[in-house]
Amino acid sequence: MATDPRRVLVVGATSAIAAETARVYAAYGARLFLTGRDAGRLEAVAADLRVRGALAVETALLDATDHARCGVVIQQAWDAFGGLDVALIAHGALPDQARCQATADAAIAALDVNFVSAVAILTPLANRFEAAGRGCLAVVTSVAGDRGRQSNYVYGAAKGGLDRFLQGLRNRLHRAGVAVVTLKPGFVDTPMTAAMPQGPLFVSARRAGRAAHRAIERRRDVAYIPWFWRPIMGVVRALPEALFKRLRL
Ligand SMILES: NC(=O)c1ccc[n+]([C@@H]2O[C@H](COP(=O)([O-])OP(=O)(O)OC[C@H]3O[C@@H](n4cnc5c(N)ncnc54)[C@H](OP(=O)(O)O)[C@@H]3O)[C@@H](O)[C@H]2O)c1
Repeated sequence: MATDPRRVLVVGATSAIAAETARVYAAYGARLFLTGRDAGRLEAVAADLRVRGALAVETALLDATDHARCGVVIQQAWDAFGGLDVALIAHGALPDQARCQATADAAIAALDVNFVSAVAILTPLANRFEAAGRGCLAVVTSVAGDRGRQSNYVYGAAKGGLDRFLQGLRNRLHRAGVAVVTLKPGFVDTPMTAAMPQGPLFVSARRAGRAAHRAIERRRDVAYIPWFWRPIMGVVRALPEALFKRLRL
């Protein structure tokens, strides 16, 4: 799919899925502003994107749970290329559900990194995109947000909350000409899922990243990645609660 060279912000750029999406943008000569927590890994992603054709790559360190710094880095990213066309928010962490059940602190930390921190980033970004009257905000949530399950409901609650936040944001920004794209991966082979046994529903980070790029460029409202998660989650959501609560999921 051909795209004009874009000015792209990637939050959580060391994520395997985000790095693959950024590679597609780099191949089209994009200018990219990358944020991440680890300077060495961030620079490695930046170097890779330069080799792959990016016109310019800038980086900034950001722990997304440092809410005050989120606004500062958004300002830097906006100023770096005189505005942005696309922002991809991809950071996240799969928490230990047992720890989240044992201590509220662990549950709250999981909600922060997977939901609250995204709000800290999206709020100033949305205002800038709205004022510019164009652009696309794309955010990685998860199929886990579609229905709470005993095995990961804290992560699911964070992603589900983010999903609902994006729904409202999309409704708000539509009139301003700004797209909000909700990206919902299923199982993707990345460091996040390295400890999980890989079943037939797993796909590569490369496939997920390319699907994310397509969804962003097509301004899809909600994109399941891959597509087959849409019917799967349709069935999961349709199961009556009286039955669902009895299942070991
Ligand atoms: N893999 C899957 O099966 C799957 C399924 C559904 C949704 N997702 C979502 O996809 C997104 C990307 O994950 P991935 O699969 O590509 O896994 P990944 O390669 O492990 O990437 C996770 C990224 O989040 C970053 N991160 C974690 N905590 C952070 C914080 N406090 N501040 C800033 N960055 C932080 C990590 O940075 P560091 O490198 O510094 O740790 C890393 O870049 C996440 O939002 C995840 O929830 C993944």
